[in-house]
Formats: sequence, structure tokens, C-alpha cells
Amino acid sequence: MAVVAVFNQKGGVGKTTTTLNVAAALMLLERQPILIDLDPQAHLSLALGVKSLHGDACVSAFFLRDKPLASLVRTLPNGLRLIPGHPDLSKVDSMLGGVKGVAARLKNGLSELVGANSPVLMDCAPSLSVLTLNALFASDRVLIPVTSDYLAMQGLHRTEIALRVLEKPLGRPIERRMVVTRYAEDKPQCRDALATLKQRYASELAEAKIADDLALAESPAHGMDIFAYAADSTGAHDYRVLTMELLSKGFFK
Ligand SMILES: Nc1ncnc2c1ncn2[C@@H]1O[C@H](COP(=O)(O)OP(=O)(O)OP(=O)(O)O)[C@@H](O)[C@H]1O
Ligand SMILES: [Mg+2]
Repeated sequence: MAVVAVFNQKGGVGKTTTTLNVAAALMLLERQPILIDLDPQAHLSLALGVKSLHGDACVSAFFLRDKPLASLVRTLPNGLRLIPGHPDLSKVDSMLGGVKGVAARLKNGLSELVGANSPVLMDCAPSLSVLTLNALFASDRVLIPVTSDYLAMQGLHRTEIALRVLEKPLGRPIERRMVVTRYAEDKPQCRDALATLKQRYASELAEAKIADDLALAESPAHGMDIFAYAADSTGAHDYRVLTMELLSKGFFK
């Protein structure tokens, strides 16, 4: 199954929320996703209730000390499998930045991990760091959450340019799908931004939208995905619909 990077150079657009809840929806749909937290903020791990781990138990040990990825996978009480992030990841740029072939490390490491029914979802930091380059090189597809406002559109434009630049050394197009997050129908700026996105990106834009929903903002503090925290919420509905759309369009194949 597919390796998917969840990426946008702009911060706070819902990358971590989307990674977590699409994976949780995939679990409910009987796929067994593996999550990788590639952000030194380790927000994905924290949102899943995984904190205060030693760096040796996290994906930082793969990059900095060559630990095999398979040895770093932990199964959480809800059944999700996670390779946690760690603040040590912030050292990767300075320690590995100049090393030849560094961008291919994760792709090589993942080859032993990917199972037939196990999509891999990687949560990226909001930057084009060595870690993000690794995620993009390793991925079959990129999922780009985008909030529906003016500044997010500017951020998306920069992200698009970055992906286009990367396609050259990769030697292949990077298949991507944008998804609108934190959408509020009653806000004119949201409606305007959505219209622009539809016009500009057409079929690259997912039909499903994620509404602004308090339960989605609350659930990380409880270490839960949205289905465990508030199964009847708008957020749970939206992430289920998005995941079903992505599955039906072969995004995780
Ligand atoms: N649909 C939503 N409704 C309400 N709150 C949301 C929604 N999506 C995300 N949030 C909240 O918005 C904030 C940013 O979301 P998130 O951490 O997922 O973004 P991010 O893109 O991963 O950020 P960063 O770039 O810092 O990694 C968080 O507090 C999160 O709980
Ligand atoms: Mg994040």
C-alpha cells in the first residue's frame, strides 16, 4: 500500500490533525496504517498520548543512529501503529544536511516496513527540511491540508513551487491531493478561498472538506483520535468521508 506524506510548508493548517484522523478512519475501515511523526515538535505523538520517550525509541534514532525503522514501531492501545517523533529530530539538518544521498534514507528504510494492507502516513513539519525531503522522496503521494483563507493560499502556492522543483531530481510527478480544513460556510473568506481553490486545482482538490469543529481541537489534549473522543462529531463525520473518498480514488493503493 501507499506511502503518503502529509505536507504543507505553512504551519497550523491541520497536517497533524489530518494525519491522525485519516489514519484512525483507515483503522475503522480495516486497514492497518503505520504513522511516522517526522516533526521535531512531535505533535502527532503527543496527540496520541505518547510523550517523554527517550530519543532511542523514536524516529530520531533511525536518522541519527541507524536504528532499523521496524524496531521503532509501537502499537498504541487503540491499535494504531506509530513511530514517534522527538525533539532530537531538530538536529537532523545540522548533522546530516551535507551528507550525500541523505534524502533517500527514509525510502530505503521503509522498504522493509510496508505491508500489503498497511498504508504509511508521515506527518511533516512546516518546512522544507532534510526530514521533509526524506518524506517527499519516500512518498508515493502527498496529502496537502489547506485552510480556506488568503494567507493559506499564498502558503499553498509556495508549497506547489517546492513540489515542482523536487519533481526534477525525483524524475517523476508528485501526485497530490489538497484538502480544505477548518472550513466555515458562514465565513465569506472561506467561501471565496474554496472557490479559488476549486478553480485553480480542480481534480487535485478533494471533494470532502473538513469543517472547523471544536471536538477536533479538543481531542489532542485527551490523547485521542476524533472517533474515540467524539464519534458523533462533525469532525468524525468529515474525516470518515474524506478517507472514504481517498480510498475510492486509489490514494492509498
Ligand atoms: N478542523 C478543525 N477544527 C478545529 N480546530 C482544528 C481543526 N484542524 C486543526 N485544528 C486545530 O488547529 C491547530 C493546528 O492544527 P494542526 O496541529 O493539525 O496543524 P499543523 O499543520 O500540523 O501545524 P504545524 O505546522 O505546527 O505542524 C491545532 O490546535 C488543532 O487542534
Ligand atoms: Mg503538525
